[in-house]
Amino acid sequence: MPLTYISGTGSAVPSKVLTNEDLEKIVDTSDEWIRSRSGIERRHIAGDGETTATLGAEAARRALEDAGVSPEEVEFIIVATVTPEMFFPSTACVIQDMIGAKNAGAMDISAACSGFLYGLSVADRFVGAGQFETVLVVASETLSKITDWTDRNTCVLFGDGAGAAVVRQSPDGERGIIKAILRSDGSKGGLLYMPAGGSRHPTSHETVEKRLHFIKMNGREVFKVAVEAMGEASASVVEGAGYRPEDVDLLIPHQANIRIIQATAKRLGIPMERVYVNIQEYGNTSAASIPIAIDEAKRKGALRPGDLVVAVAFGGGLTWASVLFRF
Ligand code: ACO
Repeated sequence: MPLTYISGTGSAVPSKVLTNEDLEKIVDTSDEWIRSRSGIERRHIAGDGETTATLGAEAARRALEDAGVSPEEVEFIIVATVTPEMFFPSTACVIQDMIGAKNAGAMDISAACSGFLYGLSVADRFVGAGQFETVLVVASETLSKITDWTDRNTCVLFGDGAGAAVVRQSPDGERGIIKAILRSDGSKGGLLYMPAGGSRHPTSHETVEKRLHFIKMNGREVFKVAVEAMGEASASVVEGAGYRPEDVDLLIPHQANIRIIQATAKRLGIPMERVYVNIQEYGNTSAASIPIAIDEAKRKGALRPGDLVVAVAFGGGLTWASVLFRF
């Protein structure tokens, strides 16, 4: 199958910033606790009129511009999100309309924080198989809308934002997506979830009163599984493709917790200088975290064409994923 590559990237985050000091006024927490336990200093929060689709559409426009591709050339749009615009139509259809991609099919995928890597892998196969020439992968989240701002265990961790990538056939057979690992363990779904609003617990006065429309998380257990799964997935994708850790130019991990990131780098066997970290600025933006990091790393010159990259994510589902690509 021909190699496919990321031909353009874009990202968009709300301008409104919520600092740890701001959170000290909302819940019983401290800047010191949040920094030392998670590495987070600030997060961006959607303001009036900003939604998952508006942020996703802005990231998509920037990715298309970066790739030199017009909206009409896009043949398929994949949107990864756990905070969709609404149940249906899909957020992908809303973004398709917003950006004027009138020749594209569109669908959402639900894989929580692993969603961008799942979407990238689907795009890779669609383009590699010759089904489409140009696929747009968007990951966009407004986690602030499902965050319980009275729960200090979760509200300090999350932020809003969007990232996007254009996937096309590799221009040279060198740059491209080399290998992907996609995994899940549904038996642990209750460690990180939003209980109500679906067919199990349809929205009612009771679900609202019991605060079941917010993120619930067993942080300690999620932490343990994340360290194991992200370490294993990143090491396996490198070894499985016949590379060594020293060949990897940059590790781009899901930005959930600096301690999980450090443990992943250690397991993979690469120093923190070759790990991209921006959790201090954005917190955990779920599916959006990796494409925001890719786009930012590229703009800052930390990621250059030809670099060998491991991206690895972990999230609700539980799901986890790693993708090895030459940028
Ligand atoms: N401020 C102050 N104290 C707090 C806060 C807070 N914001 N939150 C919890 N605490 C308290 C707890 O109540 C607990 O007190 P107790 O011992 O009296 O009960 C104490 O701090 C320690 O709690 P722990 O859970 O042991 O803290 P830990 O070191 O595990 O850190 C954290 C908590 C940051 C949530 C960590 O477990 C973690 O990062 N887990 C993974 C979370 C994650 O990555 N989730 C997302 C992954 S998937 C996705 O991105 C959607």
